[in-house]
Amino acid sequence: MADFDFFDPDFQKNTQRHFQRMQKECPFAHADKPFDWYAVTREADVAGLLKDWELWTSNSGPGLAHAEGGVLVSVDPPEHLFDRRLINKAFSPAQLLAMEDEIAELVRNLIDGFVQKGEGDLMQLFAVPVPLIVIARLLGIDEEVALNIRPTAEGVIHPSTPPGKIPRPPMDTPGHLYLKGVLDERRQKIAAGETLPDDVITSLITAELDGRSLNDEEVMGFMFFLFIAGSQTTTQLIGNLIYRLLEHPDQLDMLKNDWDLLPNAVEESLRFDSPVNGLFRTNTRETELGGRALQKDTKVICMFGAANVDPEFWGDTAGQFDITRPYQQTKRHYAFGKGIHYCMGAPLARLEARIAVRAILDRLPGLRLTGAPEEIAAHVMHGVDTLPVAWNT
Ligand code: HEM
Repeated sequence: MADFDFFDPDFQKNTQRHFQRMQKECPFAHADKPFDWYAVTREADVAGLLKDWELWTSNSGPGLAHAEGGVLVSVDPPEHLFDRRLINKAFSPAQLLAMEDEIAELVRNLIDGFVQKGEGDLMQLFAVPVPLIVIARLLGIDEEVALNIRPTAEGVIHPSTPPGKIPRPPMDTPGHLYLKGVLDERRQKIAAGETLPDDVITSLITAELDGRSLNDEEVMGFMFFLFIAGSQTTTQLIGNLIYRLLEHPDQLDMLKNDWDLLPNAVEESLRFDSPVNGLFRTNTRETELGGRALQKDTKVICMFGAANVDPEFWGDTAGQFDITRPYQQTKRHYAFGKGIHYCMGAPLARLEARIAVRAILDRLPGLRLTGAPEEIAAHVMHGVDTLPVAWNT
């Protein structure tokens, strides 16, 4: 008998309730669809798993399926350090500083485009395009193409995949073909001695680290991962935060009267509505988990979202949304993971959320919900999929 069903729509709807039940009743919860796997929900256990990367490898991928190959979140050291060094420059404080004005301008322009409407779905109008365009610019992808491809994290978890290794994804999707074209163009420019744009594609194809460089397939692996990691997650953050503020008008007023609370509000949203419910690790040898013997190669999900609402760690108010929670305390959440795989895009996501949410609240007076938002149904991801709102024009 399974302790929980990840694919039950109620799990997506009432995630926090399920997490707190699992923490109490079955902290090492067993799921059996489509095969046996486990979920770790208590903060202390999530911390322990993330620390021990030699036992709990990332080499089988962050999803439920046993994936082969991959970059960053799909590899352990020493490969993992190599990967992080390759893209470090794109996430440096200097790069972020350079992007701040550009993000503010993008946000201004997007709002200009719909402010007169007076109502609409704020996810489609705003929370989806902002991170997609930002990541497209950072990577060097055409913005229109980025908006059309719009990859989601759904592919990370394969509900119907049987145990065993899954094959690599096909290399002839429109996204792959577009990227292949960009790579060919860049390589021609290099051959002709032309100057290349200063973006992540250029960094990746010209990188030479420890005498190694990347082939096209590897570059594409990085690009797709970064594209997904940097878009849907931040879309959820922006949407979730605006939703909770509208749900808590007293806290919305407090924020509007004291913008210094904005960083707290962003952290509290990340804690309370972790955009990524959790990601998987796989044991490299037989071990035991909460008294259960686990065979080698068992998938276990570290539930970041559950650790974020564990009363043992956060106290009795764990289940309340409260933007006045002390910043340094709130920042200890697990929404960006912990340890060696800690999210490289965290400063960028925070920056985008601060700029985006401030602009929305400044420019859409009387912002209010006009209906109940729908939840996304993407298992590993958590948050609103629609945000029906109206404002005064
Ligand atoms: C609110 C937004 C975001 C959330 C909630 C989020 C969440 C996460 C989480 C939980 C991990 C850890 C994975 C693990 O332990 O297996 C991670 C890793 C990562 N994220 Fe983010 N992310 C966000 C935004 C971004 C952005 C904007 C970018 C880039 C543009 C990005 C790039 C990365 C990278 C490169 C890693 C891999 C780090 C490694 O394996 O060493 N993320 N993210």
